[in-house]
Amino acid sequence: MSSKNAFLTFEGSDKAIPLNIVSGSDGPDTLDITSLYKEAGVFTYDPGFLSTASCNSSITYIDGDKGILRYRGYPIEQLAEQSSFLEVAHLLMYGELPKKTELNDFSNIITRHTMINESLLRFFEGFHYDAHPMAMVIGVVGSLSAFYHDSTDIKNPRHREISAHRLISKMPTIAAAAYKHNRGEPVIYPRNDLSYAGNLLHMMMATPCEDYVIDPLAEKALDLLFILHADHEQNASTSTMRLAGSSGSNPFACVAAGASSLWGPAHGGANEAVLNMLKEIGHASNVEKYIAKAKDKDDPFRLMGFGHRVYKNYDPRAKIIREVCYEVLNKLADANNPLFELAMNLEEQAVSDDYFVEKNLYPNVDYYSGIIYRALGIPESMFTVMFAIARTAGWVSHWMEMLDDPRHRIGRPRQLYQGAAIRDYVPLEQRA
Ligand code: CMC
Repeated sequence: MSSKNAFLTFEGSDKAIPLNIVSGSDGPDTLDITSLYKEAGVFTYDPGFLSTASCNSSITYIDGDKGILRYRGYPIEQLAEQSSFLEVAHLLMYGELPKKTELNDFSNIITRHTMINESLLRFFEGFHYDAHPMAMVIGVVGSLSAFYHDSTDIKNPRHREISAHRLISKMPTIAAAAYKHNRGEPVIYPRNDLSYAGNLLHMMMATPCEDYVIDPLAEKALDLLFILHADHEQNASTSTMRLAGSSGSNPFACVAAGASSLWGPAHGGANEAVLNMLKEIGHASNVEKYIAKAKDKDDPFRLMGFGHRVYKNYDPRAKIIREVCYEVLNKLADANNPLFELAMNLEEQAVSDDYFVEKNLYPNVDYYSGIIYRALGIPESMFTVMFAIARTAGWVSHWMEMLDDPRHRIGRPRQLYQGAAIRDYVPLEQRA
């Protein structure tokens, strides 16, 4: 990191307060304001973090204007084409692509710690049959903190690593159990001989009376979606994970916090919302009407799967997913899947509409992912859970990076107080 200075002056004062301008390895320079309150007695105000870097990180780089996404320096397009989810999880956690033996060891660790304690499985009995799978996943992943007391010293790097491995390994098992609970089917235990994605498909689709033959295309498509969703720097759920973890909290509880943030429709819940929106639109003849609704300031409707805080260009992940859609739908489902046709029609009309052009609103990662999940036989209510499984690799990597950084402190934002000024307590009988 190189650094130069900027000076802040206030009207009516000659004092110039020096502020460090810190350059990262890529991306815009950053003004270091950590001493601002001490030096000038003012806070900065940036709700929604539009211009604020909340931490240092070496994991993921995004250039939203150019539509660039890189994990540890590697372009997402290259990883999508040549890598696997477990290799990417290793890359995110440890900073480097694994050598052959390292990948073998890592895959063994992850695929051999997939079982969850039987008592945890009994937690599912407490949920109503139609509980949303995300609600169950958030509850049960957080409950892992009531188990595994052998490795919860967050000051110990080895303990942190074990917890991270456990989270990546067990998330699919918890997700599949939530799915089976919804269906009223018995839980299918993990199989350690299967790949990460193959095992998830097995746990979801097999039943005790019928084995499930994993389609290699479905396994590959799921693995690819996991690569694309694995990390996205300081998004809302990762920032939640970091903030929760900054106080020294238990990692399983922190992942429950991250997953809660992910669930919202403005974030990872958008994939489910996209499918619901496409079903509501129903037919190409209604597209124009819905685009008009999305543009109408008095209508709360938004085009789900469109727009992004960081990307002001096509989301590179959406580009990759749209291509895979063709392949998957051609082989696994009706080649003319009407929802895919409708999605493409909606995209075509939206990206050439002045409103969307002026505001730089393009399809994001969630726009097409649900169409693939649906072709794989995964229901809408599980879409955000799929996202959570993949993003766990990113969450734990950021949590480890934060705790490894000697400069890290508890996250404690300031505020611009706009409430009542001091006033005296009024006894109940005297209140007007
Ligand atoms: N449809 C219609 N108008 C939109 C949309 C949309 N999908 N997204 C943004 N706008 C408009 C918005 O009304 C605002 O207009 P104006 O400046 O006139 O007030 C302008 O574009 C900027 O929007 P914003 O809400 O201030 O932007 P943001 O950076 O705070 O929000 C977003 C980003 C992703 C929450 C938003 O684009 C959105 O709600 N999109 C739909 C939900 C979605 O697809 N979310 C998934 C995000 S990608 C995956 C992930 O992160 O998990």
